[in-house]
Amino acid sequence: MSYAIIGFGKIGHALAKAFARNGIEVAVATTRAPESFASDAAAIGPQIIPKTLAEAVKADVIFLAVRFESHPDVAKALPTWQGKTIIDVTNAYGVSPEALGGQPSSKVVAQAFTGGRLVKGFNHLVATVLDQDPAVHGGRRVVFLASDDDGAAAEIGALAENLGFSPIKLGRLSEGGLLVQARGNSWGQLIFKDLVKFA
Ligand SMILES: NC(=O)c1ccc[n+]([C@@H]2O[C@H](COP(=O)([O-])OP(=O)(O)OC[C@H]3O[C@@H](n4cnc5c(N)ncnc54)[C@H](OP(=O)(O)O)[C@@H]3O)[C@@H](O)[C@H]2O)c1
Repeated sequence: MSYAIIGFGKIGHALAKAFARNGIEVAVATTRAPESFASDAAAIGPQIIPKTLAEAVKADVIFLAVRFESHPDVAKALPTWQGKTIIDVTNAYGVSPEALGGQPSSKVVAQAFTGGRLVKGFNHLVATVLDQDPAVHGGRRVVFLASDDDGAAAEIGALAENLGFSPIKLGRLSEGGLLVQARGNSWGQLIFKDLVKFA
């Protein structure tokens, strides 16, 4: 299984640190040439491989860590996302319900990534918390996962565990997924809740 993080800002860095901490290789990409963020990547660890967007999207599992508004640009990088799992880490705060066509924001993202399997997750914590070692107080920091595809949710649940987190599945995007959704000027009830699981 190969991994990539698209977007190497605050959240991209936090996710990259989790990969490095656990010795798992991951590609990182932005709109810029990989040389421009190579030293940033090297500072995190040798597992963090700077790539162009076109190269990075060859991975099997892709974290979408760009602003919600940028997701259509990333989606254009491939004609089809068949066979790939996309983890939507975006928060559509400030995006009106009308602009989303009344849909959950992750459904809008899923439609843009035609053919791919989408899991909403790793998006409920601020970057400065997600950045930290999730082994805390003898337990594991919780990340929430929501998906309309149970197989994809299970796959990303296993990855979350390998990254040291404790995943909690919330069900479908239009059900539990709404608890971790931002849109307009509202945040879902579970957003910013820094929870730790002990078993
Ligand atoms: N910050 C938080 O605490 C937090 C918490 C939870 C969720 N989130 C969500 O996570 C996402 C990222 O937030 P952030 O705070 O990490 O933002 P950020 O620091 O502004 O980073 C965004 C990254 O995306 C890259 N990017 C922009 N357009 C791109 C494109 N078309 N293709 C590839 N890369 C592109 C940017 O690089 P270039 O512009 O150089 O290409 C930059 O590296 C947002 O959706 C946000 O809502 C953020």
